[in-house]
Amino acid sequence: MSSPATYKSDWRLRVFDSLSFPTRILTPDGTIIAVNRRFLDRHGELEEEVVGATCREINQLHFPHQSFPCTKGEECPLCQVVTRKDGQTVLLHATVEDGEQHWEERVFSPILDDRGEVDFIIESIRDVTNVKRLEKMYSDMRQLIDNVVQSSVSGIIAADRNGDIILANEAAEELFGYSSTEIRKVNIEDFYPPGVARDIMSMLRDEKLGRRGKLPITQLEIISKHGEKIPVEMTAAIIYEGGEEVATAGIFNDLREKLAVERKLRESQMKIGQTEKMASLGRLAAGVAHEINNPLTSILMYGSIIREKLERDHPLSKNLDYVLEDANRCKDIVKNLLAYSRQSSPSREVFPLNMLVSESLRLLHDQRLFQNVRIVPDLVDHEVLIKADKNQICQVVINLIMNSVDAMEEQGTLTLATSITKDRKTAILSVTDTGSGIPESDVLKIFDPFFTTKEPGKGTGLGLSMAYGVLEENQGRIYVRETSEQGTTICLELPVVTLSNEILFDSIG
Ligand SMILES: Nc1ncnc2c1ncn2[C@@H]1O[C@H](COP(=O)(O)OP(=O)(O)OP(=O)(O)O)[C@@H](O)[C@H]1O
Ligand SMILES: [Mg+2]
Repeated sequence: MSSPATYKSDWRLRVFDSLSFPTRILTPDGTIIAVNRRFLDRHGELEEEVVGATCREINQLHFPHQSFPCTKGEECPLCQVVTRKDGQTVLLHATVEDGEQHWEERVFSPILDDRGEVDFIIESIRDVTNVKRLEKMYSDMRQLIDNVVQSSVSGIIAADRNGDIILANEAAEELFGYSSTEIRKVNIEDFYPPGVARDIMSMLRDEKLGRRGKLPITQLEIISKHGEKIPVEMTAAIIYEGGEEVATAGIFNDLREKLAVERKLRESQMKIGQTEKMASLGRLAAGVAHEINNPLTSILMYGSIIREKLERDHPLSKNLDYVLEDANRCKDIVKNLLAYSRQSSPSREVFPLNMLVSESLRLLHDQRLFQNVRIVPDLVDHEVLIKADKNQICQVVINLIMNSVDAMEEQGTLTLATSITKDRKTAILSVTDTGSGIPESDVLKIFDPFFTTKEPGKGTGLGLSMAYGVLEENQGRIYVRETSEQGTTICLELPVVTLSNEILFDSIG
């Protein structure tokens, strides 16, 4: 091993002194044999105060509050350099006296003798406090952004240029139905119906649509893991780096709840409108019916007297028949108007749902109408009891059947089906025909009083509006389930009263 004196006289010490990092030279046992100018300047020390001391003593002096690997019982880097004959780098983190955080990177390099043994160790010290502070600021910032993203109630996702997901917050995982590991394996295109992801990219790149790379709030449907289509409101943006597209990000808000509330609101507004319309028209109808009823009764009464007196072969006999026939039709209309305006109060009874079908068919007088109509009953195979005004509801069903027969021009298939909802609370009767259907523009009008598309004299347009009122009065509802050029299904719903055969119901789950 060379002696310290030999080393000191080496010309290379001049190079050593001019190094810009504080550096010291140690013997393998940790004795400091030389320090460069930078080292002394940094701590304001004299060479003789340092040289001859051990690295442990000096470290302790410089960082009294810091524990070093050797004092913690861990292998000291110096020993590692001696055994491995290879360089070592350690990061020293210390809190200095004024409470400030301080980081040093210490690089230990072996100086080998002719036999390849470690003769000295050169320890170079780099102050990396600023680098570490920046690193910490960066990681704190990342943590903050991560917290903001994760705590957002909107689903946030980002994908790279290939569409692979690189970021997804909890709200996005919940919305799309994937776990945090699954979502990373999904491609952005899987979140949309076919072609939609491409359309979004084209919109993002289309400068005419607003700011380049930014998609204003757009409503669309996304596809969840389970294939469910979910309506959402989304905004998206392209992320650029140095003018290059590197990723895309999207923010999604689930619209299911909002749309359901809006739909309910629309429905109740329509219902209120319909009820108000029916109430005012009901009052008008009641007044008109009442006024017409008296003269009509006279016409019929005196007409019948003349009928009795007049010979059948009298030249005016036929004319009198016409008068009486039309007066009777007016009587029916007046009866309907009175029923519509609720002059007759409902009398409730408990009866089986299927009875509505059999009774209504029995009550239909003009069976000739059904000559070319195939009637298909599709009845629930167990007893479902409902409480309602049977006569009123039968009149409703008869009107539905007549409407269907008219729509099919007396030719086609008429299906009368009964069923019960899964929760067993609601009984359903549906009338399905293979008729011409209701034009979209008429669907909202068919429950309006006096709305008819039938020729004058063939329909009053009161059938469905009466049905609407009757169902409302019986705690039920009536609605068009489906209508197209292939036919129409209109449903009645009534609350179920008691289930007389629970065991059978259990089997339909
Ligand atoms: N099943 C159906 N298929 C096609 N259109 C229908 C059907 N049911 C009803 N409609 C349409 O709804 C209108 C109103 O029906 P609603 O029963 O209220 O009156 P109406 O049948 O015209 O006359 P009324 O029943 O008073 O004799 C009908 O004129 C028809 O245009
Ligand atoms: Mg009708």
